[in-house]
Formats: sequence, C-alpha cells, structure tokens
Amino acid sequence: MSEPQVYPVPEAWKRRARVDAKGYETLHGRSIADPGSFWLEQARRLDWIKRPELAGDWSFDENDFHINWFADGKLNVAANCIDRHLKDRAAATAIIWEPDDPEEPARRYTYLELHREVCRFANVLKAQGVRKGDRVTIYMPMIPEAAFAVLACARLGAIHSVVFAGFSPEALAGRITDCDSAVLITADEGRRGGKRVPLKANADAAAKHAPALEKMIVVKATGADIAMQDGRDIWYHEASAEVSEDCPAEAMDAEDPLFILYTSGSTGKPKGVLHTSGGYLLWASYTHELAFDYREGEVFWCAADIGWVTGHSYILYGPLANGATTLMYEGVPNWPDSSRMWQVVDKHQVTSLYTAPTALRALMAEGDEPVKATSRASLRVLGSVGEPINPEAWRWYYEVVGDSRCPIIDTWWQTETGGHMIAPLPGATALKPGSATLPMPGVDPQIVDAEGQILHGATEGNLVIAKSWPGQMRTVWGDHDRFFQTYFSTYPGKYFTGDGCRRDADGYYWITGRVDDVINVSGHRMGTAEVESALVAHPHVAEAAVVGRPHDVKGQGIYAYVTLNANDEPTEELRRELRQWVRSEIGPIATPDAIQFAPGLPKTRSGKIMRRILRKIAEGDTSSLGDTSTLADPAVVDDLIANRVA
Ligand code: WTA
Repeated sequence: MSEPQVYPVPEAWKRRARVDAKGYETLHGRSIADPGSFWLEQARRLDWIKRPELAGDWSFDENDFHINWFADGKLNVAANCIDRHLKDRAAATAIIWEPDDPEEPARRYTYLELHREVCRFANVLKAQGVRKGDRVTIYMPMIPEAAFAVLACARLGAIHSVVFAGFSPEALAGRITDCDSAVLITADEGRRGGKRVPLKANADAAAKHAPALEKMIVVKATGADIAMQDGRDIWYHEASAEVSEDCPAEAMDAEDPLFILYTSGSTGKPKGVLHTSGGYLLWASYTHELAFDYREGEVFWCAADIGWVTGHSYILYGPLANGATTLMYEGVPNWPDSSRMWQVVDKHQVTSLYTAPTALRALMAEGDEPVKATSRASLRVLGSVGEPINPEAWRWYYEVVGDSRCPIIDTWWQTETGGHMIAPLPGATALKPGSATLPMPGVDPQIVDAEGQILHGATEGNLVIAKSWPGQMRTVWGDHDRFFQTYFSTYPGKYFTGDGCRRDADGYYWITGRVDDVINVSGHRMGTAEVESALVAHPHVAEAAVVGRPHDVKGQGIYAYVTLNANDEPTEELRRELRQWVRSEIGPIATPDAIQFAPGLPKTRSGKIMRRILRKIAEGDTSSLGDTSTLADPAVVDDLIANRVA
C-alpha cells in the first residue's frame, strides 16, 4: 500500500486551538498515568449538586465486575444542559431548528425558552405519573419537541429510550416491552424529504403488541388526521396548556441511569445499552469541546437523527452541556436538491458540521456544482462518524466542502462508548485520510490477536480498550450477564469493541470494520441475525443467512440467502414480497439489497453456516473460497456461485 498523504495542522489552527500537539500528549499521558486526579479535575466542567470526590472505580474481571464513575456525586443532567447557562447566556440561542421544507421558517429557542419548554414537558410527564427511574419511550420526528421530551425525562430522572422514527411498529413494540415502558411520546406524523411518516399509526400498531404501554403523548407536528384513543392518548398541546412553566430538576446520583438506547449486536435481539448520568454527560461534553474545538457563540450542526447515539451525544447532550447553539435538521441531505446541506450551512452560519460518510458519498456522486453554488465560509471544522471514511470521500469533504481550510475530524466510537474514543483534535493532530488517528484522553486502546495477545507497534488485529472511561455503558438493560458476556468475555479484562483495526508506524489507528456479524449500512448498525430472524418469520422461508457486501454509497449493503420451504417456488414476486416483509418487520434501513434463493446453505458437518463463504460469494470473490472440503455438502457452493445476484 502506498504511504497515505499527511495533512499537517494548519498554522492558523496551531495558533488558535485550545489544545496543540504537545498539549494533547500531556493530556493523554496524564489521563492514563493518573486517571483519578485527571477526571476529578475534568468533572469541574459540570455543575454538581454534590461534587464527587471519587473518580473511576471499576474492574473488568469476571469475579469483581463493576464500573462506577463519580459515584458519590449528585447532579441533574438537564439542569447542566439548561439552567446553569441562564445566568450568563439566557438570551443565547440553544437550538436552531431547520424544517424539512426550506420554504417554511426556521425556529429558534434561546436557553431561557428551552428552559420553559422542557419544564412544561416535564410537568406534562409528571401529570401522567412519570417519576424518577420510570422508562419513557420516545418515537419522534426531528422536531424541537423531541429535544424537549428527552431533556424533560432527564429533568425528572426518568430513563428515556429513543426509538428511531424509521423503525417499524414491530421493532417499536419490542423496545417498549423490553424496558417495560408505560409511556410513549410520539407525533401525529413525521416529515422527511417531502414525505410523510405515519408515526401515530405506527405507534397504534405497536401498542397492540406492547401490553406495558398505558399512555401515549402525541405532539401535533403536521396536523394530519389521526385517531386518538380515549383514556390512553393525550394531545401534548392540550396537556401542556394546563401545566406550570417551572419544574424543579431532580437530584440524581452520578450513576443513576440517564437513558437506554437499543443497538444491534451479532446475536439475538437488539440490546438496551444503558448510560448513566455523570460519566456520560462529562464524556459527551468533554469530547464535544475537544474534538470540535468548540467556542462560545459557534453554531454546531450534527446532521444525525436523535434516534441514534450520535444525535444523543452531539445534537443534544454534548453541545447543550457546553452552552452551544445546536442545529437540529428535520430533513434529509438531498431534498429538495443536493445543495440543501450547504444552503443550511450558509443560512445558519454553521461553524462545525458533523455527518456520515454515506451522506458524503451520495452527495459526491452529484458532482461539485451543488456545493460550489454556496459559500460555506462559516465552516471551521468538519466531522465524520458512523463508519470508516474512504479516502476519496475524505478528500472531497476536505477539498470541495471545506475548501481545504477545515480539518476533517474522523471520530471512531460506538453507542456503547457514549462519545468519541479515537479522533483527531483540530489543533493537535496531523491528519491521514481514512484514519481516526489517535485516542482521546482517557482512552487506552490495544490491538490484540485472536488469542488475546497484545500486539505492539505497527500491526493489525482486534480493537480492545484496556481501561474504563467515564462515558462507558454500564449494562444491558435487564441483562447484566449479557453485558459481561458480549464485551468482556472474549478478551478477559478488556472491553472488546467488535471492530478490527490496524495501527501504523506513527501510532495512528485505522478502523477496518466489524469483525463480528454486525454490518454497517449507511452508518447504521444492523445485526445479520436480526434480518435473518425477520426473514424466517415469513411463512415461505425455511432458512436464511445474511451477510454484508460492499456498496458504493451505503458502505455495506444487505445480501440475503434464502432457502424456501420444500413446495414453494422462487419467484420475482416472492423476492419483492420478502424485501417488503423485512421492511415492515424491522424498518426501511433493514431492507435487503439482494436476495438470492438458495436450495442449500454451506454448512459444516456440525450444522454451522460458513458465513465466510457466503460473504465471498456475495462479493463476487469466488476464486479464493478457501477450504470447502469440511462442508457437509460441498456441492451447494457451485449452485450458490451460479445463482449469485449481481
Ligand atoms: C463503526 C456510531 C470507522 C464501527 C457512533 C463501530 C466507525 C460502529 C466510525 C458503531 C469511524 C463508527 N470509523 N468505523 N469513524 N464510527 N464506526 O453504535 O464499526 O451506531 O463499532 O455508533 O460503527 O456504531 P454505532
């Protein structure tokens, strides 16, 4: 491989940055050598009701497994994101909301207005009996009320579980039931790219399979004609007219849960990743400030959805904890046209933009004109998240979008990590396109081989994290054993990320992608097992195996091998039906890109499906299938190759 180009820190950035190269080394060194004093000092960035005297108290060992941060501290997360800014920044804009349709006016909320809205929402929840520790599911479009709802939960100490509005009623019902949530917050409809999403109708369908659900709070977003069920459904605008504009913030222990967010794993149903209050907020706030070198008055745009962890940490918690102006965008990158994102940047004078490689690849395909038609002079930093960014997209982002002025901050992290783990700092780190570069302070990455041996120097293997950090998830909701088994049993004593990784001679990290059965479709995590179980739930399907294969825009696409029941015919119509079936079982993001009807799957004699072979066939790389002699029936491979879907 040729040596990648290196982009040194620009002179202007060296002068203005909060942290330079030397500063980074010092910070990282101290954070690893003396994490206790380092993190107690960092904890001062939050507003504590009781300041902690304890920092990290943790062990990844099976016999003494526990993770606590700042355990004796007390705080309220919403008060940190709102109330404490009222003294000096009450009139500063907290949230700018840009609607789907550019013809409609944007909305702005100052910190004072945000305070009022969140208090109101909290009081509405309270009136419905929501108390500290209760679970509240939020199934909302990207409208300001979604932010109010999330922060209202935090204010009361209720645990929010945001479910991405693209998920199906079945997926929503499963998540409501898993965390036993009695209250659901939704809207009549969502809007994305000029299309309507029937959220209330989906919620109604979900409620049929979610017996725990008692109340539905419905925000009027589009004014669509929807059905309201007496005794269960409450219009938010009616309920909020009757409550006070003030609501005290609950004093929470640092280790009290803040939220659950469901994410896909390699096995079983999605896991409820649980984050707690103090450590998570500290991590979101610290990483937001460092990675984007955030300064007061800047406009920060994270173009994710609040249904994903990126939206939690970098639309809401990180920026608001830092008193920033955060931009919330309702729509999609390429509607009404592919210039839309850059127009939004100009309209709101965005200083930092944070988006996913899949969006960049899609926009890049439309050429440079839609970008060049705009100024983008306000931009200072460009962030990337969700999947490895290919060097072509990196360069386009750098040269065309940022006019070669703005550092590209490629941030590697996970739902489980709460915030950035490996990422450059704009004033400190020379960049290499495609590398997430160096660990954040407090992060101690290691690369291990399959046996768990630590590999040193320039090497490649599996990425683990050797020490706990404040933003680490604390458990899988309702299944602490699964938490341990999933992340700490593969390489005892270490957190296993599920990612493969290379480290070069400069110590830079290059994430190579998942090494487990998780695929990354347009920056969204999808468990192959989840798609398989949706497929086999179809009456005509006997067996299914799903693998990822490279896709130009999505990063990875979903390729499904399906074995039908003995008397069922493989028809084009059935193929279409199966695609539609998966959409409605999980959601549009899980729609298979290709379905191959396979009379048999390659299995070992003990019945284990050999996915390695299926992946190679899907990729069209049939020359190096490796040893197939251990298969129970090697002949199935020829049929699979012959009927591969291009
Ligand atoms: C992948 C999203 C390479 C990785 C924040 C990880 C990345 C999974 C990057 C987590 C990146 C995320 N470079 N790969 N900058 N960011 N990933 O939980 O495989 O939705 O394990 O969190 O996305 O996805 P999740």
